[in-house]
Amino acid sequence: MVTTKAVIPVAGMGTRFLPATKALPKEMLPLVDKPVIQYVVEEAVAAGLSDLLLITGRNKNALENHFDRVAELEQALEAKGDSGRLFQVQESSQLADIHYTRQGDPRGLGHAVLRAKSHVGDNSFAVLLGDDVIDSRDYILERMLQVHEESGDNVIALMQVPKSQISLYGCAAVGFQHAPDVYQVSNLVEKPAADSAPSDLAVIGRYVLNSEIFSILEKTQPGRGGEIQLTDALEYAAANPDVAGGVRGVVFSGRRYDTGDKLDFIKATLRIAVDRDDIGSELRSWLKDFAKDL
Ligand code: UTP
Repeated sequence: MVTTKAVIPVAGMGTRFLPATKALPKEMLPLVDKPVIQYVVEEAVAAGLSDLLLITGRNKNALENHFDRVAELEQALEAKGDSGRLFQVQESSQLADIHYTRQGDPRGLGHAVLRAKSHVGDNSFAVLLGDDVIDSRDYILERMLQVHEESGDNVIALMQVPKSQISLYGCAAVGFQHAPDVYQVSNLVEKPAADSAPSDLAVIGRYVLNSEIFSILEKTQPGRGGEIQLTDALEYAAANPDVAGGVRGVVFSGRRYDTGDKLDFIKATLRIAVDRDDIGSELRSWLKDFAKDL
């Protein structure tokens, strides 16, 4: 069956980005002039996912408003004849069929995903972390959906990182190589110490999951940080493929930004901005001058 549903958790506390995230979800911070969440929604839509469920937390109004229509703003832009901006304002409200549900207490990513159970039903579904941006010039979700359709396994996205950074991520132990970019995942460990990590393959924020993962999540006890970890449920699935299907990893080697991290956020802004038609060339020449003084 073709996967059409996507779940986008946006209910995290955003503590790494305080105080900016005190009253605003981190997914509403702009990369140049579009909030992070819009890049993620656009990626899902481009991959053919048309039914999106956002798992929201406190301050959810800003997110809902962004994907809603604002009649007085549209009228004002129309009256001014500003069709470019009018298009941009309308675009975000026409992207997809977007639904919202509350997480309640932010008890971890696994808990957030479990909140999607009744919306998803018996279908397989994608999960896109709302603060994890894949550059639209590179892509991975299409490939993950293809691997899922062919194998029936759960599919996670992996990225090679320096071993010194693996303790910031979930880490995958891999076995059989199905294709140059696809491995069977034999085990998963959340944020391992560098010397005990089974590989340098980090789990990044894209998943295609079977609905049976919900019954595993329901039984998953709070793990690292007292949170219900999606990684722990996937570790169980990898070890017990008869319950919810096995786990395959697709290795991504393109541009990806963890926008919940301040430094990565700034890098993402610059990477996107230097290639923009409107501000790119001016920014490039300014950056060259700026870099001379560093
Ligand atoms: P993160 O771990 O990056 O989010 O979760 P966080 O907890 O907000 O991060 P800190 O506080 O800066 O360390 C990855 C994604 O999962 C969502 C987040 O919103 C983010 O998109 N999330 C996380 C939830 O929806 N609920 C949770 O309980 C935890």
